[in-house]
Amino acid sequence: MRNESPTPSYAQDEDDFLYSVRAGLRQHPKAIPPKYFYDAHGSHLFDLICTTPEYYPTRTETAILERHGAEMAEMAGDSCTLIELGSGSATKTPLILRHLSDDAVYIPIDICASHLHNSTQRLQTMFRAMKMQPLCADYHQLADHAIKRQAGKRQVVFFPGSTIGNCTPDEAVTLLKNVAKLVGPSGGLLIGVDVKKSSAVLNAAYNDAAGHTAAFNLNLLTRMQRELDIKLDATQFAHHAYYNETHGRIEMHLVSQCRQAIRLGKESFEFEPGETIHTENSYKYSADEFEQLARSAGWHLQATWHDEDGLFNVHYLNQSAAEPLKLAR
Ligand code: AVJ
Repeated sequence: MRNESPTPSYAQDEDDFLYSVRAGLRQHPKAIPPKYFYDAHGSHLFDLICTTPEYYPTRTETAILERHGAEMAEMAGDSCTLIELGSGSATKTPLILRHLSDDAVYIPIDICASHLHNSTQRLQTMFRAMKMQPLCADYHQLADHAIKRQAGKRQVVFFPGSTIGNCTPDEAVTLLKNVAKLVGPSGGLLIGVDVKKSSAVLNAAYNDAAGHTAAFNLNLLTRMQRELDIKLDATQFAHHAYYNETHGRIEMHLVSQCRQAIRLGKESFEFEPGETIHTENSYKYSADEFEQLARSAGWHLQATWHDEDGLFNVHYLNQSAAEPLKLAR
């Protein structure tokens, strides 16, 4: 349904989705960006994915933050301004906030206003004295002036969950450059990055037995049906996710099970049997690869924390060219 919303930003979001779907279906190969997975139902499905035994990133990163959060907060500075990108339900955030002092400031940024409101309220009851300034925005479109810098207060971006993996390496460099501009030369970056590993482990993580990842992928089609004037049969598409070793990334696709067409307004998009809509990339980086990538965006690795099995890394970076002190844990 097109919607005559009184809120311009909402109308803009709707147009974004329509334009992205139309542009994506015109492309060869067809592709739709993964940010559209996260409507209310999609966000719920993502939370379910995070509870499956196969999807190791969430619980692994959480354990790393539980274990080393104090050291991370010490590097960031305990009275810093912590800016979380795509904060969502912000479940890992307390693991850092609990080590900051009351004069720290927390700025969660998310495109979903309700997520932002609920999670900020929850965190504010946990950390009553801490100043929290939620910002409803797409962190890909943050202007440098979006957040006022306070003199003498270091700004540190917190970007957990390996969300950076959705960017191509080129896009990741652009995003990391923008983050550097946002926080300024004295700023820091605390970022979670999923690591390259065996295809068996990776393929299982994106093909959980409970079928939550499949439902998450297929929900994109039902969202299109709900929100756009579109004609398609979602039962004629199947979830496909696999590790593309050449590119070092998981690819998710929606595979057409037959010859069929999707109609969007007056336009018709034809599918061959087996033809796909590419819905997500999830890049994996070794610590060295990520250090290289970040360096080309002006960041210098200060520390890396990981789990015993080396499944996942959390990095702290800053912009001073000082010889980094590397902690391997
Ligand atoms: C939120 C982008 C980090 O790539 O692992 C999980 C999204 N997609 N299962 C990821 C996702 C399928 C997730 N990120």
